[in-house]
Amino acid sequence: MAESSGFPPFSRKSPLELVKNRPHYTPMALREIARIGHPVLRKVAEEVADPTTPEIAALVADMIETMRASEGVGLAAPQILVSRRILVFEVAAARASAESVDEGEAEGTLPVGLTTLINPVLEPLGEEMELGWEGCLSLPGMAGMVPRYVHLRYRGVTPEGETIMRDVRGFHARVVQHEADHLDGILYPMRMQDLSTFGYVDEMEKSLPEI
Ligand code: NI
Repeated sequence: MAESSGFPPFSRKSPLELVKNRPHYTPMALREIARIGHPVLRKVAEEVADPTTPEIAALVADMIETMRASEGVGLAAPQILVSRRILVFEVAAARASAESVDEGEAEGTLPVGLTTLINPVLEPLGEEMELGWEGCLSLPGMAGMVPRYVHLRYRGVTPEGETIMRDVRGFHARVVQHEADHLDGILYPMRMQDLSTFGYVDEMEKSLPEI
């Protein structure tokens, strides 16, 4: 596991100094991530009246920084203790190919560019659902099999005020459903049908057959 802070362990420089020396320095901050049990994760988050304010842009920048430092594929604002209807997600190419092997997807999982959705609206296309493994930064080290719609249309607004509308499938659709659930106070174990697949990843890996 990569060290998420990125700071050398024995440096006399202050963390702020080290951050400022990084070439991509921008004034963003890593935020604390709420874990299951924190009441903010059970609330229905508030709509954002104006997605284009500097306050929202700063919040989104922190969400992206925090998601990437935690090696997550998505993050919803309530997970950093802000009960607003905002989510970010990004599926890098390496992660996409690993997920398509895990899920046995015939079409494969496509990488997803960094996306910010404010006030997202989801519409399942068709009734078909499938089971797949999910984890969550609010349940560190854990995973479970969760049913999700295979085919999904979603809409939302960006911090630039543009509307995004996409029809997506598979892992992309799964990530958006998982993140949007956070805005309604729903964590993935609440969607599970078979809790025998729920547990700590390192414990479950001990019982997997050798490949
Ligand atoms: Ni989550």
